[in-house]
Amino acid sequence: MSIPVEHKGLRPAGEGVEAPALRPGGIAARARAGGGAAAPLPNYLNGLNAEQRAAVETIDGPLLVLAGAGTGKTRVLTTRIAHILNLGRAFPSQILAVTFTNKAAREMKERIHSMVGDAVEGMPWLGTFHSIGVRILRRHAELVGLKNGFTILDTDDQIRLLKQLLAAENIDDKRWPARLLANTIDGWKNRGLSPQNVSPGEGSAFANGKGQMLYAAYQARLKALNAVDFGDLLLEGIRLFREHPDVLADYHRRFKFILVDEYQDTNVAQYLWLRLLAQ
Ligand SMILES: Nc1ncnc2c1ncn2[C@@H]1O[C@H](COP(=O)(O)OP(=O)(O)OP(=O)(O)O)[C@@H](O)[C@H]1O
Ligand SMILES: [Mg+2]
Repeated sequence: MSIPVEHKGLRPAGEGVEAPALRPGGIAARARAGGGAAAPLPNYLNGLNAEQRAAVETIDGPLLVLAGAGTGKTRVLTTRIAHILNLGRAFPSQILAVTFTNKAAREMKERIHSMVGDAVEGMPWLGTFHSIGVRILRRHAELVGLKNGFTILDTDDQIRLLKQLLAAENIDDKRWPARLLANTIDGWKNRGLSPQNVSPGEGSAFANGKGQMLYAAYQARLKALNAVDFGDLLLEGIRLFREHPDVLADYHRRFKFILVDEYQDTNVAQYLWLRLLAQ
């Protein structure tokens, strides 16, 4: 499957995105089919400039939108979703639309609602990396050694758990603070590294060579508690997709379009997770 990945921004004026092939009979084609017989443009296309419109109407194939801050990239992304729905190219449930923050997800939903109305309510896969990550994990929890009702630890819970592990290993938490270990583990997770993938050199950075072992012990504790931390929401998803190609294939069939706002900000784990889904 190809990914229409939305990215920051629009090209500078004059370097317009290539004109899209129009679907015969589609609204856009009818609108452009000259003469007075042309159907009116859907309202949502009216307010766009030429580059935005070309990007919105490029439905097929991967698409990267690059432009400066506040130039209307998110507007392109949301309008493109409305256009895909309006043309009947996908059902709302077949679009994966990912943002970084809950606020951005809410705004995206509102903007799409203003264009297509309640159809947006049928988009369960519009949300943050975390919310979509947890949704996917809940559906297949048992395949990654969790039970469906698993809990998600917040940072305080995470630190508390790591303190217990440090105490059990007789590691002085004044010298090697749990918070530092939490940051180190988060860093590994954001780079898509499971305990066995952390290089020995890096793993030895914490507590004179105990980093990797503590990371492994932490993961084992989480499993025993039927819990995950934020990093696991993607890392366990990546593992799920890699170890269960049938599950991944099911998502490939499901998602006809994948759109990512602020794509330039993706970390390695987010990139790997997206790439697996978009392959
Ligand atoms: N063609 C347009 N005509 C009028 N207003 C527009 C147009 N395109 C975008 N806007 C408005 O400009 C503002 C910024 O747009 P948008 O949020 O889509 O930009 P962005 O590139 O995603 O910004 P950011 O870099 O902050 O993510 C919004 O209020 C949007 O409605
Ligand atoms: Mg934006």
